[in-house]
Amino acid sequence: MSEKISRALTVAGSDSSGGAGIQADIKTFTALGVYGLSVLTSVTAQNTVEVSAIYDLPEQFVGLQFDSVMKDIGCDAAKLGMLCNEKIVETVAEKIDQYKIEKLVVDPVMHSKSGVSLLKNSTEVFKKEILPKALIVTPNILEAEILSSVSIGTISDMKTAAERIHSLGAKMVFVKGGHLEKKYPATDIFFNGETFEELVCQRIETKNTHGTGCTLSAAVCAFLAKGMDISISLKNSKDFITDAIRNSLEMGKGHGPLNHFRKT
Ligand SMILES: Nc1ncnc2c1ncn2[C@@H]1O[C@H](COP(=O)(O)OP(=O)(O)OP(=O)(O)O)[C@@H](O)[C@H]1O
Ligand SMILES: [Mg+2]
Repeated sequence: MSEKISRALTVAGSDSSGGAGIQADIKTFTALGVYGLSVLTSVTAQNTVEVSAIYDLPEQFVGLQFDSVMKDIGCDAAKLGMLCNEKIVETVAEKIDQYKIEKLVVDPVMHSKSGVSLLKNSTEVFKKEILPKALIVTPNILEAEILSSVSIGTISDMKTAAERIHSLGAKMVFVKGGHLEKKYPATDIFFNGETFEELVCQRIETKNTHGTGCTLSAAVCAFLAKGMDISISLKNSKDFITDAIRNSLEMGKGHGPLNHFRKT
């Protein structure tokens, strides 16, 4: 008898170095025992040091991939990563409505770890078209600052930013603290629209953090696809990302990738 498996969809860019983007998402889905589907938005020429070129796919082709997977297979949850430009943002927003995707994790990817823009001049349309569709949005510190117009230096600032982002329409907000000052442990803030939760773990000393954000949001998507509630999904995802960073791989000359397949 064939096995029943949950289905998770990622809508994101390709990272040729395998550390972030679609590649990190599919590894995460596989490690967590869900079936991974993908809609590619862009192809990047990238390694652990830099993003040297970006080729955004035509938005019609993004839509066609969506139609292909959704009309045949469907998904139990989805995540959005790099959306590149206004036309792709609009196409993805239409498809989310068309296929009534409710378990939607939105990672508001704006820049690569090396500082290259991955959402060209599209923040306003992203806020209007995508944020209100998110079950949960997972900004890092810089993205939370841009979305909320709150300057973040403390945990309390992260909470204020989370409230503002919630008021833009996202049902729930998870602000990631990987980029907080090093004196803080790795602290993330979860705001469910009413109350706050802090998810804290010891900061791991490593330069190999390529793809942490992609991996975290893909893990949340995987746990939601399996039917877990949001709070448990976030706690499990925090454990997963912490293990993946702790066992990260020495590869390349810059920010090396995580290890999605080893539990400590
Ligand atoms: N050095 C670290 N030690 C432990 N946890 C970390 C570390 N760096 C990041 N994290 C955790 O990894 C997760 C991702 O957070 P981060 O702020 O790095 O996302 P991001 O900036 O979107 O990543 P990316 O640059 O890959 O897009 C969070 O749960 C964060 O707390
Ligand atoms: Mg990120």
